[in-house]
Amino acid sequence: MNTNIVVAIDGYSSCGKSTLAKALSKKLHFIYVDSGAMYRAVALYFLRNNVDMTDHEQIAQALQNIHLNFHSRDYQTHIILNGEEVSEEIRLMPVSEKVAAVASLHQVRVEMVKQQQRMGKSSNIVMDGRDIGTAVFPHAQVKIFMTADPKIRAERRFKELAPKNPDLTLEEIFESLAHRDYQDTTRAESPLIRADDAIILDNTELTPDEQLQFVLDKVLPFVEQTK
Ligand code: CDP
Ligand code: CDP
Repeated sequence: MNTNIVVAIDGYSSCGKSTLAKALSKKLHFIYVDSGAMYRAVALYFLRNNVDMTDHEQIAQALQNIHLNFHSRDYQTHIILNGEEVSEEIRLMPVSEKVAAVASLHQVRVEMVKQQQRMGKSSNIVMDGRDIGTAVFPHAQVKIFMTADPKIRAERRFKELAPKNPDLTLEEIFESLAHRDYQDTTRAESPLIRADDAIILDNTELTPDEQLQFVLDKVLPFVEQTK
């Protein structure tokens, strides 16, 4: 039986999942996998190569041609698409606007979930996304479902993106997040829903340190058991 610990973090866009996941992995020396970055990199490939999302053969061919890797440097995760670092480009608006549609495709999900499950086979791991506690690791020891006030989420994302994107408005970000949340929660395949055994974490009024402490309290008993 596997004794590695899996922490599954799901939730709406921009509510602090990756901030929490990175901090946890740093503290506990668990591997961190940003599953959203994988879907974003696939969406970037689809955009660049004009993949027709109604054509199953084109999608299958594209998935065969996509090779994703993660590199960790200075506690930052870098995603590599076919040998090219795309960590910054996948955060830009064209990818953000496309990714939910790409992630709703059955063929894409089957391939990503397979790769994600492989990564969690033998190491302690923290993975964040939308279906980690429901589809990827339904037996994860700790499942967190994150949420926060939509206005606060948009403000947090705006603070991040505005310095490099002077034309971007807070309203645009708010609309884009709301639209993506709608797509993610209503899609047929693995929609974003809380697993029955997931702990809800509303971090509207929590600092990153406070949210980390909240989750560490849930994970540490499992770490103790493995000692
Ligand atoms: O960082 P943000 O919350 O904006 O999103 P993300 O985690 O980078 O994920 C980007 C998109 O990928 C999501 O809006 C979902 O459409 C999709 N995704 C998914 O379907 N399943 C996952 N496990 C992770 C992301
Ligand atoms: O991964 P996800 O899209 O859910 O969100 P994130 O990228 O971790 O967080 C979005 C922004 O919210 C980042 O700039 C975080 O620093 C910030 N944040 C915050 O201000 N307070 C928190 N409790 C959590 C995140």
